[in-house]
Amino acid sequence: MCGIVGYCGEKDAAGILVEGLKRLEYRGYDSSGISVGYNDKLSIIKKKGKISNLQAAVPSDMPGTFGIGHTRWATHGEVNDLNAHPHSDNSGKITIVHNGIIENYISIRKKLKDEGVKFITETDSEVIAQLVSKFYEGDLEKAVKEALKHLKGTYGIVAIHADEPNRLIGARNGSPLVLGIGEGEMFLASDVTAMISYTKQVVYMEDGDVVVVDKDGFRTTDIRDNERDKEISTVGWDVGEMEKEGYPTFMEKEIFEQPQAVLRGMKGRLDPDQGTAKLGGLNMTNRELRMVNRVIILAAGTSSYSAMTCAYLLEKIARIPASAELSSEIRYKNPIVDPGTLYFVVSQSGETADSLYAMRELQRKGATVLGICNVVGSTIPRESDGGVYIHSGPEIAVASTKAFTSQLTAMYLFSLIMARMRDMSISKGKAFVDALSMVPENINKVLEQNEYIKTIADKYADCHSFFFLGRGLTYPIALEGALKLKEISYIHAEGYTAGELKHGPIALINEVTPSVFLVPDDSLREKIISNMKEVKARKGPIIAVAVEGDTDVADIADEVIYVPKAHELMYPFSMVVALQVFAYHTAVALDRNVDQPRNLAKSVTVE
Ligand code: F6R
Repeated sequence: MCGIVGYCGEKDAAGILVEGLKRLEYRGYDSSGISVGYNDKLSIIKKKGKISNLQAAVPSDMPGTFGIGHTRWATHGEVNDLNAHPHSDNSGKITIVHNGIIENYISIRKKLKDEGVKFITETDSEVIAQLVSKFYEGDLEKAVKEALKHLKGTYGIVAIHADEPNRLIGARNGSPLVLGIGEGEMFLASDVTAMISYTKQVVYMEDGDVVVVDKDGFRTTDIRDNERDKEISTVGWDVGEMEKEGYPTFMEKEIFEQPQAVLRGMKGRLDPDQGTAKLGGLNMTNRELRMVNRVIILAAGTSSYSAMTCAYLLEKIARIPASAELSSEIRYKNPIVDPGTLYFVVSQSGETADSLYAMRELQRKGATVLGICNVVGSTIPRESDGGVYIHSGPEIAVASTKAFTSQLTAMYLFSLIMARMRDMSISKGKAFVDALSMVPENINKVLEQNEYIKTIADKYADCHSFFFLGRGLTYPIALEGALKLKEISYIHAEGYTAGELKHGPIALINEVTPSVFLVPDDSLREKIISNMKEVKARKGPIIAVAVEGDTDVADIADEVIYVPKAHELMYPFSMVVALQVFAYHTAVALDRNVDQPRNLAKSVTVE
């Protein structure tokens, strides 16, 4: 969603801001803009559409060593140049960029209008610039703090003033803001990707922080001027990881990174001798873990399907009642928090508003909530009671792929720990560890079939609707396969448990509606084969993802993608990768913008 970047230093700000915005493109946006200060004036350039439109409008020699930039994902007001950020006050001396939503903007706007202020945009954010202006008496920091006292809602803000050169004022409440410390230059951004090519030294702002940034230093307080101490962290990855490295798209690169990402997620965490695992960040003793009598895993979108897979796994191997819940639902259910229940929130970005607010609601009611996140320093891991980083590296493509298999990895390790404390023998634990260690190689074997899967995708790319069907552990994988296909190819796709087909959806099966069946060689295989026959009897085309050597499946299906034989609990990994590759090539065949599908944002920071 919206992205922020701010710069003050000695270099030309415009180029740095535009470059920072380009690095934030992956978050999803519909317009962008910058404001740069020079000679007691602020210049603003804003453009609807791609950042290339903005870039074309920014003169290459634009002077000014401080400024702010923004990528907007419209919430209030249509997508046009005017509604894009930065927003200015009536004097043109103050500009601001804002992520989040100002809930009381209508009443503020009305009041300011009555006082003679002229509003030129339809946005909620403009009230911030006008309010800061109202309180400005020669000190931007003071004016911002005063304005913040009147705002209700969420914000990550950066403000500048034409008469206070090389100074940025940032504030955070609910929307991320990170400070970057360079040599004689400083950055403020909504995520570190915007400044990673300049510095790895960062400070993560927390809710309630107001930061005053000059090129040589910064000071953090709350809005009532109480000092707040901050820790400087070092970002653990390189700018190279933000490049496509020869791949045509980030999504393809990230699909192919999965063997390494999964390996990294397991590194140092498996205990082959005891047939178990170790997860350092849980902040729970073995005794406390043993007392857990239920696990509930919250998440949204793709992360909710990894959550669901692991809920199945936990019940199966650890014999603990477990379920996955959508974050957007649980928050408003007035959840009953039982002391024996352990909650997880799974989120690649660590910033998803639905998941974050659900977590806070549960914590308010006394729940212990652990995070399973990728982005280090993001809000969910900082506010959770403990958790695990999945270490899959930056995920840039909007459609999540490597984060999914890395989330599975982390939760498989947790499930193993819980299982070994309860029902599972050491020999079964060792077999599970061995099986998990084989996952990267098994994923590789699926990736080796890239070209073959492409031929299948090309053949079916003209279809208007697909079913994805699995059972047990592969049911959530079917849901994820359908989501992947619809979000990047825009083809309608529905995921079902294969057992449900006959209860309604089968009415839609015909010669032009393919069904993608997941057929692991587990206890449900025969049942799934029966479901495939039901589809075949109605002339529905079948694409099966089955286990090497399963010739029965080949006799029924029109196409088969084989995954290597594995421990029956490990098929979610290899099968989901086959579905990702299939969705990817379908989208490419249809000439879609694979990395930035329409209407979608990487990090959904509004409800
Ligand atoms: C789909 C996708 C989204 C996210 C969802 C949650 O490919 O990426 O469905 O999974 O918005 O995001 P996180 O995991 O960041 O909380």
